Amino acid sequence: MLYHVFKSLVVALAFGAATASAKNPVSSNALVSRRLTEYLMPVTTETHEFARVPNTNFVLLTQMSDSELIKIELDPTTEEPIAYHSFPMGRNSSSMLHGVWPSSKYPGLMWLSLQADNKLLLVDPGKNLSSVPKIKKTIDIPKPGNGPHCLFEIGNRVWAGLKVASKQTGQYYVFSADIHNSTDYTLYQSLKSPVFIKEEPTTGLIYVTQDSDSSIMRINATSGETKQMPIPPSVGNNAVGMISASGPLSGVWFTLAGSATGGTGTFGHIGADGKMKFFSLQHEILGANAGLLHIADASTAAGPALWLLSTSLLSNNSPDALIRVTFDSSLSSVAGEEYISMQTQNAKVHRVLPLDSTVLVSELNTFTLAQLKYNNTVAGRWLPAELASNTTVYTEAG
Ligand SMILES: *[C@@H]1O[C@H](CO)[C@@H](O)[C@H](O)[C@H]1NC(C)=O
Ligand SMILES: *[C@@H]1O[C@H](CO)[C@@H](O)[C@H](O)[C@H]1NC(C)=O
Ligand SMILES: *[C@@H]1O[C@H](CO)[C@@H](O)[C@H](O)[C@H]1NC(C)=O
Ligand SMILES: *[C@@H]1O[C@H](CO)[C@@H](O)[C@H](O)[C@H]1NC(C)=O
Ligand SMILES: *[C@@H]1O[C@H](CO)[C@@H](O)[C@H](O)[C@H]1NC(C)=O
Ligand SMILES: *[C@@H]1O[C@H](CO)[C@@H](O)[C@H](O)[C@H]1NC(C)=O
Repeated sequence: MLYHVFKSLVVALAFGAATASAKNPVSSNALVSRRLTEYLMPVTTETHEFARVPNTNFVLLTQMSDSELIKIELDPTTEEPIAYHSFPMGRNSSSMLHGVWPSSKYPGLMWLSLQADNKLLLVDPGKNLSSVPKIKKTIDIPKPGNGPHCLFEIGNRVWAGLKVASKQTGQYYVFSADIHNSTDYTLYQSLKSPVFIKEEPTTGLIYVTQDSDSSIMRINATSGETKQMPIPPSVGNNAVGMISASGPLSGVWFTLAGSATGGTGTFGHIGADGKMKFFSLQHEILGANAGLLHIADASTAAGPALWLLSTSLLSNNSPDALIRVTFDSSLSSVAGEEYISMQTQNAKVHRVLPLDSTVLVSELNTFTLAQLKYNNTVAGRWLPAELASNTTVYTEAG
């Protein structure tokens, strides 16, 4: 057994060195490394959403349980978090600051949602770490809407998933308003509860994940028509994370977070044809129970890829892990999987955000932000990713 471990290490090291020297002109002593660093945020129970302020070295992170906005400064070269400052947002510490999203229509400004105050804010985060964010615009969620959670800007409109049942009707809604004229708004009745809202780039249709009721709502914002697309229970449940992607990945991609008994390592795609197509992770230990909560585009010049985030949020049977997947040439199945297990298991990881050369992950339960960083290699070329999908190497390692 020990001999086998030693032998496979030797093979792995030899293969790693060969890969590095074939692809990069590095010295024979250069080591390929992959590291995760955890950064401690202010202690509170719910470290939620985060987003980079475009063209700056600031990341804004929301902590919902005390309604604080954390402004984090990144080192401009290494992207490492170097300092933070926190600011209370909303009426009081029960305002439940949750969503954060950059505005394109107002460059430099950021959207925030206050779930308990029923408000969306457009704020100027300020030029330096200690400058207090200034509120530029407030949008009150009209009745019967209740509880704005995640929010997004799509074209000329701001969208928010209203997570809480209406006090008036007991129903759930998706809110959409013209950015420049919020009296021009629509509330679309949805299932329980709308989370991510994204536009399919070819058709302009809007897709909304609904977690508890495990369905995706399609909205034609021109006609006002909506349609429910239930997730077949045979593939999994609890649709949460969603992104809109262009290029080879064109369409919306979404993840299934699973249930109290674990996840199914399944994520899906809806393209211009409007059909749901499902993909599954292959790794029998880490992939099969993955509860995929969030997703990000990981495509590079080498090809299309996705970052998936498995979380223990719904079940301790699901690992806290960051997973990079690649596809076969026809994009019909998963071809490569790189697993990065999080340092703190049961951290209930929540969101993934790729920066220029590093990747950030928020850990809901442990008020930390983790950063993944490679040296002398890049994501997807980390050897164990090939080991997991290449039987030749397993055979060689005996
Ligand atoms: C990354 O690799 C370079 C070249 O081998 C080395 O000089 C540097 O110290 C490494 N950085 C870290 C953080 O290990
Ligand atoms: C926050 O304000 C609301 C409404 O005035 C109130 O019901 C709640 O108790 C306040 N919470 C705290 C922590 O002060
Ligand atoms: C931060 O910005 C504020 C307001 O713009 C300014 O008064 C303050 O001097 C700035 N601080 C630093 C360290 O630049
Ligand atoms: C704002 O939207 C409302 C509702 O659609 C509309 O009646 C009003 O004319 C709009 N105002 C402007 C300035 O466009
Ligand atoms: C959305 O509705 C409009 C108005 O009815 C219609 O012209 C358009 O084709 C619809 N879009 C899609 C992608 O079905
Ligand atoms: C698997 O690994 C072998 C040995 O390193 C390599 O020659 C081969 O191209 C790999 N196959 C795939 C499909 O990556």
